[in-house]
Amino acid sequence: MVDFHAHVLPCVDHGSDSLNTSLKQIVMAKKAGVKKIVATPHYYDNKDSLSEFLQRREEGYKSLQEALVASSIDVDIIKAAEVNLQTDLFKNDLKKLCIGDTNFLLLEMPMNINWNSWHYDAIDEIIALGINPIIAHVNRYSSYYTKRLFEKDILFQVNIEAFLSFSSRRNVLSLYKNGNAHFIGSDIHGKDKNPYEKMAKYKSRYTKMFNDFELNSYNVLES
Ligand SMILES: [Fe+2]
Repeated sequence: MVDFHAHVLPCVDHGSDSLNTSLKQIVMAKKAGVKKIVATPHYYDNKDSLSEFLQRREEGYKSLQEALVASSIDVDIIKAAEVNLQTDLFKNDLKKLCIGDTNFLLLEMPMNINWNSWHYDAIDEIIALGINPIIAHVNRYSSYYTKRLFEKDILFQVNIEAFLSFSSRRNVLSLYKNGNAHFIGSDIHGKDKNPYEKMAKYKSRYTKMFNDFELNSYNVLES
């Protein structure tokens, strides 16, 4: 499996407070059969300068890589970010926030404000820059807002949490059936909950869907 959304880099955001936490997260992932983890620390343009974020991410990534080698843990970690869509975002070189060396960007839509035409136009603006937005945890947003996103030629990531209740699982199945769910993510924060056990469980139940998620992930990572 590929975890397409995870907060596993130590001391880069609130997802992991230490190298020890990151290693525990990754051991859980590995046990569940995850081979690649797209590491997506939060990037909020109003809280962080891009250069400081990139430096912090690089330090977290390097320390984790060294620890993985020292512990003989064989998991691929790909540098990325969960980029919150904000008005000042375009002052940055968005390519630097893309997943690995790709032109794909994991984009988090606002959670606590109403979306307006600016938000939809901003997605078009990102596409015009040659960057392919992937909407993070599409299961979390109201369908009132997402229906306009589904008209666009973009990709969508779902969190494993969406499989846990009957109604949200039905929603994910519908998203997938309609071509609006392309990647699965743990969105893991901390080490106290194990979303990877759930990923393994639902992979065995919805094998075709999870195989498609994996294929889509490799297609992006190798693009
Ligand atoms: Fe996240």
